[in-house]
Amino acid sequence: MKFVLATHNPGKLREMGEILSGLGVEVVSPADAGVTVDVEETGTTFAENAMLKAKAICAASGLPAIADDSGLCVDALNGGPGVYSARYGGEGLDDRGRYMLLLQNMRGQTTRAAHFACAIACAFPNGDQLTAEGRCDGAIAFAPMGTEGFGYDPVFLVPEKAKTFGQLTAEEKSAISHRGRALREFSEKLATYLKK
Ligand code: IMP
Repeated sequence: MKFVLATHNPGKLREMGEILSGLGVEVVSPADAGVTVDVEETGTTFAENAMLKAKAICAASGLPAIADDSGLCVDALNGGPGVYSARYGGEGLDDRGRYMLLLQNMRGQTTRAAHFACAIACAFPNGDQLTAEGRCDGAIAFAPMGTEGFGYDPVFLVPEKAKTFGQLTAEEKSAISHRGRALREFSEKLATYLKK
């Protein structure tokens, strides 16, 4: 059974493909499915944005579609940057620019608690829907550490490991990360759905 994954990121496609291959599911990109849909992420939650994307790709392709949305929520910033994580500080910034801005905005802040969140949504042409969510609690470091991963990884401290996400291998990160947890929950829910 073929599913479209609403991403142009080859890394995400491979990761999802590996996890779902055991279920007899083939994951293809929107381009492979012959659709180009630019979905505006207008939702106020990760789950809403993920479902918006999944529904749009499903409608355009006629195939079941999976989408995810994720971000970093910082307690001292009232949950921000949250759904705006990818756009924090505006268009001109790269990953490093965004996490340096975050550190700057956290200067003098002793409350460092934060969490990453990931929502996965799947929309089927018959209207059925599946959702999964994952979360990873941690804290914002005082300076960047590590060069692994992407995004805010160098400034996200995992207390149990006394390391940032940027200091973990991909396997170590996936075992505890918001995305790893959401993916495993989604895979279980999809397995149950497909058995029905
Ligand atoms: P998305 O691709 O729309 O889900 O954007 C999520 C944004 O949140 C990314 O651009 C990153 O800035 C941030 N983000 C989400 N997950 C992670 C992670 O695992 N590590 C670091 N940053 C992340």
